[in-house]
Amino acid sequence: MKKVCFLFVMLVLVNVNVKGLTPTLDDDVLGLIVFKADLLDPDNKLASWNEEDDSPCKWVGVRCNPRSNRVSDLVLDGFGLSGKMGRGLMQLKFLNKLSLANNNLTGGIGVNLGQLSDLRVIDLSENSLSGSVPSGFFDQCGSLRSFSLAGNKFTGQVPDSLGKCSSLGAFNVSGNQFSGVLPLGVWALNGLRVLDVSDNFLEGEVPKEIGRLYNLREIKLRKNQFTGVVPDEIGACALLRSIDFSENSFSGSLPSTLQKLSLCNELDFHGNLLTGEVSEWIGEMGSLQTVDLSKNMFAGAVPSAIGNIRSLKVLNISGNGFSGSLPQSMVNCENIQSLDVSRNALTGFLPSWVFQLGLRSVSFSENKLSGSVFSAVSSSVANSHQNLQVFDVSHNELSGEIPSDIGKFSSLRLLNMSKNSLIGEIPETIGKLKALSTLDLSENQLNGSIPMEIGSAASLKDLILSRNLLSGSIPSSIGTCSSLTSLILSRNSLSGQVPVAMSKLADLQYVDLSFNKLTGALPKPLGNLAHLVSFNVSHNQLQGELPAGSFFNTISPSSVTGNPTLCGAAVNRSCPTVMPKPIVLNPNSTGTDPESIPQPLGRKKILLSISALIAIGAAAVIVIGIIFITVLNLRVRSTMSRSAAAVPLSGGDYSSSHTTDTNSGKLVMFSGEPDFSTGAHALLNKDCELGRGGFGAVYRTVLGDGRSVAIKKLTVSSLVKSQEDFEREVKKLGKIHHPNLVALEGYYWTPSLQLLIYEYVSGGNLYKHLHEGEEDGNRSSLTWNERFNIILGIAKSLAHLHHLNVIHYNLKSSNVLIDGLGEPKVADFGLARLLPMLDRYVLSSKIQSALGYMAPEFACKTVKITEKCDVYGFGVLLLEIVTGRRPVEYMEDDVVILCDMVRGALEEGRVDECIDERLQGKFPAEEAIPVMKLGLICTSQVPSNRPDMAEVINILGLIKCPSEGQEESG
Ligand SMILES: *[C@@H]1O[C@H](CO)[C@@H](O)[C@H](O)[C@H]1NC(C)=O
Ligand SMILES: *[C@@H]1O[C@H](CO)[C@@H](O)[C@H](O)[C@H]1NC(C)=O
Ligand SMILES: *[C@@H]1O[C@H](CO)[C@@H](O)[C@H](O)[C@H]1NC(C)=O
Repeated sequence: MKKVCFLFVMLVLVNVNVKGLTPTLDDDVLGLIVFKADLLDPDNKLASWNEEDDSPCKWVGVRCNPRSNRVSDLVLDGFGLSGKMGRGLMQLKFLNKLSLANNNLTGGIGVNLGQLSDLRVIDLSENSLSGSVPSGFFDQCGSLRSFSLAGNKFTGQVPDSLGKCSSLGAFNVSGNQFSGVLPLGVWALNGLRVLDVSDNFLEGEVPKEIGRLYNLREIKLRKNQFTGVVPDEIGACALLRSIDFSENSFSGSLPSTLQKLSLCNELDFHGNLLTGEVSEWIGEMGSLQTVDLSKNMFAGAVPSAIGNIRSLKVLNISGNGFSGSLPQSMVNCENIQSLDVSRNALTGFLPSWVFQLGLRSVSFSENKLSGSVFSAVSSSVANSHQNLQVFDVSHNELSGEIPSDIGKFSSLRLLNMSKNSLIGEIPETIGKLKALSTLDLSENQLNGSIPMEIGSAASLKDLILSRNLLSGSIPSSIGTCSSLTSLILSRNSLSGQVPVAMSKLADLQYVDLSFNKLTGALPKPLGNLAHLVSFNVSHNQLQGELPAGSFFNTISPSSVTGNPTLCGAAVNRSCPTVMPKPIVLNPNSTGTDPESIPQPLGRKKILLSISALIAIGAAAVIVIGIIFITVLNLRVRSTMSRSAAAVPLSGGDYSSSHTTDTNSGKLVMFSGEPDFSTGAHALLNKDCELGRGGFGAVYRTVLGDGRSVAIKKLTVSSLVKSQEDFEREVKKLGKIHHPNLVALEGYYWTPSLQLLIYEYVSGGNLYKHLHEGEEDGNRSSLTWNERFNIILGIAKSLAHLHHLNVIHYNLKSSNVLIDGLGEPKVADFGLARLLPMLDRYVLSSKIQSALGYMAPEFACKTVKITEKCDVYGFGVLLLEIVTGRRPVEYMEDDVVILCDMVRGALEEGRVDECIDERLQGKFPAEEAIPVMKLGLICTSQVPSNRPDMAEVINILGLIKCPSEGQEESG
C-alpha cells in the first residue's frame, strides 16, 4: 500500500514525464496500479496486478496491442469490484475497450474519460454509478462504436455532445434516471443500430427524423414519459427488428407505415394511450413473433389478417376495447404459444382452435364469450393437450358443464373458469392435473361435492371454489395437496367437519370456509399452522373450542362469528371446560343404549330398573345356551373318551377334534375338561351376575371340579364376526398369559350366542374398591402402597399386551379386578377385535361405557387409533386411583373432568389437595406428585406425546426407588 501511495503521489506531481524519471516503469503499469488502488477487490481478482512487473500485458483482464505492447482492452466484467473509477485510467492512452460491467462501482465518471480518443467501446453497465454525464463528455468520441451506461443511477440530461459520435452503433442508457429531452443529434446518428433509453424519465416526442436512422435494428423507449404520435417515418427504418415504445404516453393511432417493416419481429406498444383500429395492414408484417398492444384504447374488430402472420408466437391485446369475435383465420397461426385477449368486449363462442394450436397460455378473461366450454374442448385435437399451461376464461358468460376431458391437459398450471354460469359437478379428472397450481372455479353454479381426487392434484397452491352450490364434506384428501397456500371455499353448502388433514398443510396462509354448514369442532392441530394470515370460518355451525396457538389466540372475531356454539376468547364465549376434553357421554342417553350405562350419581334408581330388565332378558337367553352346552358336553366327552385325546390347547384346528353342530353350537376350553352341569342354576340366579360392560354381562359359575369361572355373555352378538374370524381372534386372546391379565380359558359359539369363559378373580373390581362403600361410611380403603402396586401391575399388563400388538381399547376401573393377594388383573382386553369392523363409530358407541377414559383421537376421523389410546385410558385410571374420584363426575349443574381438574390444580400448585382424602396424609408426597404428573402426561391430547407403556414402567420404577435408577425398569 505504501508503494501505491508513493506511486500515486509521483503520478500527481510528475504527471508529465514519468518515464523520464523511472525509465523501467510502464505508463500502463502505473495507470493500472493507481486504478486498482481506488478499488476494493473483495474476491482478490486483481491479484496478478503487481507493480513490480515490467508489463501489464499478462494481468488478468488486460489485453495489449501486440505491436505496441500498450494496453488496448480492459475487461473486468463481474469482478465484484467496488469503489471509484479512478484517474489511473487516464494513463491508458491507447485504450480501445473499457468494460467494467456488473460491478459495484460508485461515484461519477470523470470528464477525462472522453479524452481517450481511441476508445471504441465503453461499457459501464450494471454498476451503481451516479451523477450526471458532463456536457463535453462526447466531444472527442469520433471512434466510439458502442456506449452503455445501462443499469446505473445517472441523472440529468443526455448531453448534446452525443451528436458528435458519428460512428456510434449502439447507445444504451436504459435503467437510469435521465430526464429531459433526448438531444436532437441522436436522430442524426445514422450508423446507430441499437438505441435503448428505456426505463428513464425522458420526455418529448419522437421526431420525424427517426426516418434517417436507416440502420436501426432495435429501438427501445420503454418506460419513459414520451408523448405525441408514433411518426409515420418510422416506416423508413426498414431494418427494424424490434420496436418497444411501451409504457409511455404515445397517442393517436398506429401508423400504417409499420407494414413496411417486414423484418420486424417484436412490436410492443403496451401501456400507452393509442386509439383507433388495428387494420389489416398488420398482416403484412410477416416476421412478427411478439405483438403486445395491451392496455391501450384500441377498438373495433381484431383484423382477420392476423391469421397471415405464421410466425406469431405471442399475441397480447388485453385491456382494450376490441369487439366482435376472434377471427377464425387465427387457426393458421400455428406457432402461437401465448394468447391474451382478456379485458376486451369480445363476443361469440370460445374458439376451438384455441385447443388445436398447442398454445401454452390462453386468457379470455373479462369478455363476453358465451356458449359451452364443453364443445370447444371436446372437438380439440388430442396431441395438443400436452402444452396448455395457463387457461383463463374467467368472467365471461360461459355455460354448460366443465368437460371431464379437462383432465387431459396434463401440463395445466392455472385453470381459471371463475365468474361464469357453469353447472354440474367438478369432474374427478381434475385429479389428473398434477402440475396444477391454481384452480379457480368460484362464482359459478357448480354442485355436487368436491371430488376426493382433488388430493391427487398435489401441486395445488390456490384452490378457490367459493360461491357455488357445492355440498358434501371437504375431502380429507386435501391433506395431500401439500403446497396449498390458499383454500377458499366460502359460500357453498359444505357440511361435515373441517378435516384434521388440513393441519398437514404447512404452507397454508389464506383459508376461507365462511358461509357453509360445517359442523363439529375445529381440529386442534390447526393451531400448529405457522403461516396462517387469515382463517375465516364465520357463519357455519362449528362448535367447541378454537384451536390454541399464536394465530388462533389473536384471530379476529369476524373470522369466527356466526357459529352459535363455538367458544374461546375470540368469540367472547368461554368454553365449558378447560382445554383437553375426553369424550363425555350424555348421561341422559342411558335409556336408549343400556350397554353404555355410566354410573352417574343420582340416577341409580332408573339404572337399576333398566339393568334388572336386561338381566332377565339375558338370563332367558343364557338358559337356552346352557342347555346346548350341557348337551354338547356330553358329546365332547364321548368323543374325547373315544379318541383319548385332550382338546388341543392351542394352535391346532379345534373343529377337527370336536363334533360341531351348527345348530347347537361349539364349546372350546383351552385347557382341561369343561363341566357346566353344576353351574347352570347359577346362571339363572341374578345374584350371580358379577357385572356388565360394553361387551356384555358377566356371570360367575362353578365348574364340576369346584373351580369358579366367570362367563361373559357377549351382547354385541349382531356385531360379532363370522365364526371363523371369531374363533381365530379368541384363540389369539387365549394365548395371552400374564400375572396381571385375567386369563381367557375358553369360549362357546353359536350364531346367536357367544360366551367367553374367564378365570374367576375373587377380590372384586377396582371400581368398587375405589368408589363404593363411601356412603355407608366404610372408610377402610386401599393404602398408598397398594394403590401404587395396582398402578404398576396395570402398566405391566398393558406393556405385555402392546408388546403382542394387542390394544385393550376398554380400560377402566371396573375392568381391573383385584385378586386375593391385592394384585390387579386386567380383564376384557382386546375384545374390540371381535367386532366385525374396528371403526370409530363402533368403538365409541359400543364401548363408550368407558366414560372419560376414551382418548380424544376417537373423535377425530383421520387420526389413526394406536395403542396410545390405552395409554390415555391408563393415565385417567392412574389419576382415578390416586385421587379416588371418578373420571367424570356429574354435579348439580356442572361436569367435572378428572384430568382437567388435576391439571388445573397442578398449574395452581395445589396438586396434593387432589390426592384421595382417605389416605389422610398417609402417602409419600415425593411419590404421589410425580405419579400424578405421569398421569397427566399419559393423558396428553396428542397421541405421540404420550409415553409408551414400557417407558411408563421405567418411570414408575424411578419414582418408587429413585436411587436405584434404571435397574428397576421392567
Ligand atoms: C454489490 O454490493 C452489495 C452489497 O453492498 C452486494 O450484496 C452485491 O452482491 C454486490 N454486487 C456485486 C456484483 O458484487
Ligand atoms: C441495454 O443494457 C441492458 C443492461 O445491460 C441490457 O439488459 C439491454 O438488453 C441492453 N439493450 C439492448 C437493446 O441491447
Ligand atoms: C339431562 O336431562 C335433564 C332433565 O331432562 C336436563 O336438565 C339436563 O340438562 C340433561 N343433561 C344433559 C347433559 O343433556
